[in-house]
Amino acid sequence: MSATKPPKGRFGDAPAAGERRGAPLPLVTQPMVPLEDHDRPEPTRVDNPLASLKPETASVLFGKATVSMVPQSKVTPAPAHYHPAVEPPKIAFTEHHLPDERPDSRLTLLIDPDSERAAAFRVLRHHLLEVGRPQVVVVSSPRPGDGKTTVALNLALALAECGRAKVLLCETHLRRPQLAAALKLVPPWCFAEQLAAHRHQPTLEWSLVRIPSLWLDVAAINPRVEKTQLLDGPAFAIAMERLRLGGYDHIVIDAPPVLGSADVNLMADAADAVVLVLRARVTTTRDMRKAIDQIGAAKVAGTVLVE
Ligand SMILES: Nc1ncnc2c1ncn2[C@@H]1O[C@H](COP(=O)(O)OP(=O)(O)OP(=O)(O)O)[C@@H](O)[C@H]1O
Ligand SMILES: [Mg+2]
Repeated sequence: MSATKPPKGRFGDAPAAGERRGAPLPLVTQPMVPLEDHDRPEPTRVDNPLASLKPETASVLFGKATVSMVPQSKVTPAPAHYHPAVEPPKIAFTEHHLPDERPDSRLTLLIDPDSERAAAFRVLRHHLLEVGRPQVVVVSSPRPGDGKTTVALNLALALAECGRAKVLLCETHLRRPQLAAALKLVPPWCFAEQLAAHRHQPTLEWSLVRIPSLWLDVAAINPRVEKTQLLDGPAFAIAMERLRLGGYDHIVIDAPPVLGSADVNLMADAADAVVLVLRARVTTTRDMRKAIDQIGAAKVAGTVLVE
C-alpha cells in the first residue's frame, strides 16, 4: 500500500482529519446513498439517482467490499420484440466440474462464503431483487480493470446460491474474456461465435456449460478463438430475446467498460438493468458521472464499490 494520499475526487479517499472511519458498518443498516435531505429527488420524479451522491461522504460511509444499490432506480425492463408464444430455445448443456485446485481468487462466494465480502454480494443480490427482479443484468464499470468480472461472477453465484434461482452467466467483453479462465473451463462453442451464428439463425441450438456444484449455467468466450473487436448489437439483442425464454430468472452479463465505446449502450438496450462497478481509490467521480450519463440513469439500477 502506498503511503501517499490518493488524489481528491476518488471513491474511498482517506478520511479527513477528525473524521471517524472505523470498520465497515453492517451493510444492511447502511444508508443506500448518502443523500442530504434537500438533495432527495421528488418521489414521483424519475431523476438521476446518483447525481447527488457525495463521494466525500461516501468514502467515509463505505468500507471494504461495500455494496450500494440505489432504491429510486426501479428498473425498466427492455421492450420485448419476440412473440410470447415463441418456442423456448433449444439448449445443449456440457457439464463442467471445477477442478480440485484452488479456485480463482475472484470467486469470493466459493473461496470464502462466510466472509464479509461474500455477505456484501448477497446484499447486492437482495438490493437487485428489490429494484424489480431484473432478468437481464449487465455488469459494467467506467474503465478496464475496475472489477466487472469479479462482481458478475459473485453476483451470479449469489443469485444462484443453493438453487434459489436459475441463473445464466454470459460474457461480452470480447477484448478481454475471463470467464473460461476464472471457472477453468473450455466452452464447447465460443459465445461470441454463437452470437454471430444465431443472428442469422435464431432457432439454432445454444451450447452452454452447466456447473452443477454452483447451480450455474455459463456462456463463455473462448479466448483462443479469433474474434472481432466490436460487439454486434443486433446479434446480442437476438441472443437475449431467445435466452430470456430459456427459463432463466436472471441472465448476468460480464460486460466491457462503458467509456470509450458504445458497446455497453447496445447491451443496455437489450437488458433490464445495468449494475455499475466502481473501484475504491481508482474510479473518479467524473468517470462515474460520464458512465451514468452515457448509459442513461434510468437503466442504472445501482453501483457497487469494490476494493
Ligand atoms: N486472474 C486473476 N486472479 C486474481 N485476481 C485478478 C485476476 N485478474 C484480475 N485480478 C485482479 O482483480 C481486479 C479486478 O479484476 P476483474 O477481472 O474483475 O476486472 P474487470 O473490470 O473485469 O477487468 P477488465 O476490464 O479487464 O474486464 C484486477 O484489477 C486485478 O487486480
Ligand atoms: Mg472483466
